[in-house]
Amino acid sequence: MLQTIQTTPFSDQKMGTGGLRKKTKVMMQPHYFENFIQSIFNTIENLNKKTFVVGGDGRFYNEIAIQKFIKMAIANNVSKLIIGQNGLLSTPASSNILLKYKTDGGFVFSASHNPGGINGDFGVKYANETGGQIPTSISDKIYAISKTITEFKFYEMEDIDLSQLRKFKIENTEIEIIDSVKDYVEMMQNIFDFEALKNLFARGFTMKFDAFNAVTGPYAQKIFEDILGAAKGSVINYNPLPDFGGKHPDPNLTYATELLEIMNTPNSPDFGAANDGDGDRNMILGRNFFVSPSDSLAILTDYHKIIPAYKNGIYGVAKSCPTSTAVERVAKALNLPYYEVPTGWKYFVNLMDSNRITLCGEESFGTGSSHIREKDGIWAVLFWLSIIAKTGMSVEEITRDHWKKYGRSYYLRFDFEGLETEVADKLMQDLEAKLPKLAGLKFDDFKVETAHPFVYNDPVDKSSTKNGLIVKFEDGSRIVYRLSGTGSSGATLRVYLEKYSKNRLNEAPRQMLDNLLAIAMEIAEITQRTGKKEADIVT
Ligand code: G1P
Ligand code: ZN
Repeated sequence: MLQTIQTTPFSDQKMGTGGLRKKTKVMMQPHYFENFIQSIFNTIENLNKKTFVVGGDGRFYNEIAIQKFIKMAIANNVSKLIIGQNGLLSTPASSNILLKYKTDGGFVFSASHNPGGINGDFGVKYANETGGQIPTSISDKIYAISKTITEFKFYEMEDIDLSQLRKFKIENTEIEIIDSVKDYVEMMQNIFDFEALKNLFARGFTMKFDAFNAVTGPYAQKIFEDILGAAKGSVINYNPLPDFGGKHPDPNLTYATELLEIMNTPNSPDFGAANDGDGDRNMILGRNFFVSPSDSLAILTDYHKIIPAYKNGIYGVAKSCPTSTAVERVAKALNLPYYEVPTGWKYFVNLMDSNRITLCGEESFGTGSSHIREKDGIWAVLFWLSIIAKTGMSVEEITRDHWKKYGRSYYLRFDFEGLETEVADKLMQDLEAKLPKLAGLKFDDFKVETAHPFVYNDPVDKSSTKNGLIVKFEDGSRIVYRLSGTGSSGATLRVYLEKYSKNRLNEAPRQMLDNLLAIAMEIAEITQRTGKKEADIVT
């Protein structure tokens, strides 16, 4: 039965870098989710001609959100919904389906790498027909509507069984429940040489992939174990659970403790990898060895020709501003067009759509290519496995070889979490005002070359974005400061440090960066302003 339900608006439905991300309990407030979805629908014309892809990472509230979404889509006369079986779709799989079947948009219910459960986070990621997240002009519109919305449309009915693959119609809306994994696997088979990868495992190569009990389990088991022949048990925590089994599905040195323990023993598998909750982030490990995501992007770029999909060359490569300069050196050496963009995948999307780049990545464990319009965790793992299969080298050998050739960017990110928004905003404002005075100043051995906000002028849509503050030193070292745009409460200050060395290749990153850290703390008066003597998270 079609209903029009009166509602009152919420004031905090502004999307950040990863869509709308909130504490689960905030999302569970009566009408909160419905208001937001109706606000999105209200920005789309001719819903009766639109098809949307729908899925989620399996976290708590996923199933409830999808059922509500289906009922709202029917009530809003949406033409068709393509839904992942059991309500599951990884972010990259959704982007692929969106593009492959030329649909008009996609909804992934996920708070990405944030913990799930009733005390965790929940989120809505909304992509448009480009396959990538919507531009700010649209999210601003949605936000404006959400602040004045007075009613939403709802179709009252029993919940739909999402476990069976089938196609049916309710009122004017066609609903198709599809295999969540199949299209994604086909895409990977078209990019990589699966025979070479099968041979690698046939030769006894061993790996562990940690899916953190989130969405990538079924994808990873299918690809690595069933198709490529990795030993059973190579994928751990493969079962998507509402609370991720209590795990924090963020693939980095802080949260991937189980995998790190496995990889940091003498008899560890040859290769380790993890993805985040919705499958767009990746971490790459060797035996007792960690590959920094900035290095990973540089290494993949250097080896792109060995991958069937890239063997005839790539358009170019891009990194986000805080990501280390490692990939810039590779781009120069290979004579590839190179771009530096603000944090957030949507900036890469414009460059992909206009054939300016093929590969791109961020320091925050995101790497990808123009095969879709999101970063892609399993793709990155397959790329690394392909390099190993081709070169016969280990993860550590490949990385050390890279440093020998190009030098090494020591790199770490320091996060100061749970700050009061006003304190964090003021810190950034005052720091920005101070930047022009820093040029030429000396801190220990570091002399400031330039200090300025990072401003990006998009060559495609001509928009200009300011995001983050850069202090660059004469030896090439950099400090980048920015505030997180993905938190669900309070503010997080991120401080990104990089020090380049051509010859010192075997130092501990933390030691190499200690002086720079002290300088970064001093310049921004972090302790005085936040009371924090050190970062909460270092990755
Ligand atoms: C973080 C990462 C950023 C990434 C985003 C979405 O955003 O830093 O690189 O694109 O998550 O995964 P932030 O919280 O820093 O705004
Ligand atoms: Zn994610």
